[in-house]
Amino acid sequence: MTHINSSNPANFISPGAPPLTQDQLKTLVGQAALQYVVPGEIVGVGTGSTVNKFIDALATMKDQIKGAVSSSVASTERLLALGIPVFDSNEVSHLSVYIDGADEIDGHGNMVKGGGAALTREKIVAAQSAKFVCIADESKLVQTLGKFPLPVEVIPMATQRVMAQFAAKGGTANVRLKDGKPLVTDNGQHIIDVTGLQIADPLAFEAEVSQWPGVVTVGVFAFQRAQVCLLGTATGVKTLTF
Ligand code: A5P
Repeated sequence: MTHINSSNPANFISPGAPPLTQDQLKTLVGQAALQYVVPGEIVGVGTGSTVNKFIDALATMKDQIKGAVSSSVASTERLLALGIPVFDSNEVSHLSVYIDGADEIDGHGNMVKGGGAALTREKIVAAQSAKFVCIADESKLVQTLGKFPLPVEVIPMATQRVMAQFAAKGGTANVRLKDGKPLVTDNGQHIIDVTGLQIADPLAFEAEVSQWPGVVTVGVFAFQRAQVCLLGTATGVKTLTF
């Protein structure tokens, strides 16, 4: 992992300034991500509160891009409301860059994602993109993935079986609820969140769990890891490259 402080002076925090809130750090990295957007092209857009800041910043250069491929209904609505055209993933063969947040990122660019339940479409758009730029505040940087509950999108009839498979690995799985009922994803499926895991080998873990019957998507992003992370810190935006 290489650390580079952003060369943009606007991304430095002056010494003695009051510490930025998590929300301000998200704004900072959302704006910093604009430097990776390729003029004249379509950009891949993730989901979440940090990406919302990026979408707001993207609106300032909307006349310079063709539009976006979005990873969720929520991001699509926000993009369209700001006048940014949204393309279906199937209409676009290749994206230069995908910008998204993460729930956790390690020192190799492996991530846990899905806190916003959009992991399946996020993985699809990431897979069609040449570069994944992760935007996050520094609370997301971890030594080993597993601190944040691992989201897994499952076909409802497989929920109990998949939960039992995680229990055999030492994890505890819970069905994610919304208004007292299982949350239904944009794809009509359910999410389980698994705690108690230490994911020492993210690539092997993702490969294994992805093969369990009924698993739509596991929230470990190792095959679609980040190449760059713009990390919001007390001293400004740090650029990590992997
Ligand atoms: C959405 O499903 C997630 O993968 C998000 O990218 C992740 O949860 C980060 O979200 P925040 O930017 O809101 O922390």
